[in-house]
Amino acid sequence: MESEKICNVNGLLIYKDFVPNWDKVQAFQARPDDLVIVTYPKSGTTWISEIVDVIYKDGNVEKCNEDFIFNRVPFLECKKDEVLDGVKQLNQMASPRLVKTHLPVEYLPVSFWEKNCKMIYLCRNAKDVAVSYYYFHLMAAGHPNPGTFPEFVEKFMDGDVPYGSWYKHVTSWWEKRNNPNVLFLLYEDLQKDLRKEVIKLYTFLGKKPTEEIVHKILNRTSFQEMKKNPATNYTALPEEFLNHKVSPFMRKGCVGDWKNHFTVALNERFDLRYDQEMKGLTLRCPTEI
Ligand code: A3P
Repeated sequence: MESEKICNVNGLLIYKDFVPNWDKVQAFQARPDDLVIVTYPKSGTTWISEIVDVIYKDGNVEKCNEDFIFNRVPFLECKKDEVLDGVKQLNQMASPRLVKTHLPVEYLPVSFWEKNCKMIYLCRNAKDVAVSYYYFHLMAAGHPNPGTFPEFVEKFMDGDVPYGSWYKHVTSWWEKRNNPNVLFLLYEDLQKDLRKEVIKLYTFLGKKPTEEIVHKILNRTSFQEMKKNPATNYTALPEEFLNHKVSPFMRKGCVGDWKNHFTVALNERFDLRYDQEMKGLTLRCPTEI
């Protein structure tokens, strides 16, 4: 069931607030040196954005601290009255731009494909995403009431949440993984060996890492550091948008918190549905590390 807070636009469920900008988003004019960061919500978007921004700023973390992550990496389709407008922000931004989006492949503005922009897709296992998304529904304005956690999981499995089906989203981007302009990464790999994934990012971006900058990235983008840094923890947004008292944006930042939320029965149901939806896909998303 759709609620009054989200609606279906050309087959995709998105926030009602975003609808006034939908045509502008679809007609968005990319620049060849744009880098697009794509995720299903709650997959570690802020983490990968911060890592990439430090790379782009050659390890100048003081410069990174000069502005909030949501200004350094604007959220393309975000729109809230006159207060938030991703398209406007990006149009006014100097190149090279870092662009955040949660759009599935078929909804990404065609201009990004036409201009051969590089894109990074970060995927996180569905169970931890469901947990994180549940708390985000509670703390972030613009979301429908998620109900109880088991009720929310049903909606999640049915794709009855903003950005729709996790399975379809991930599949749509997984199918692009062999495109040389697309780098497909896993949140769990970042957790397991961040250094290795940072080096992968450097190679993809055609840049050379130095030991000093890699070291800085590892320190600065740890969960603990990002949780206490106002430039990355989203506490700068007004409480009516994000209420950290209900649940902090930087909540747990780990792999496997789903085990604290799924009952054995719910987990079995989820696994069954997962196998049906992801049948034939070679993608493996670890639910523990
Ligand atoms: P949890 O709710 O499981 O803690 P997004 O940025 O896409 O909204 O994703 C938010 C999720 O990423 C939250 O997950 C958050 O804690 C986690 N996260 C943010 N920064 C992180 C970091 N540096 N290391 C690990 N997880 C991080």
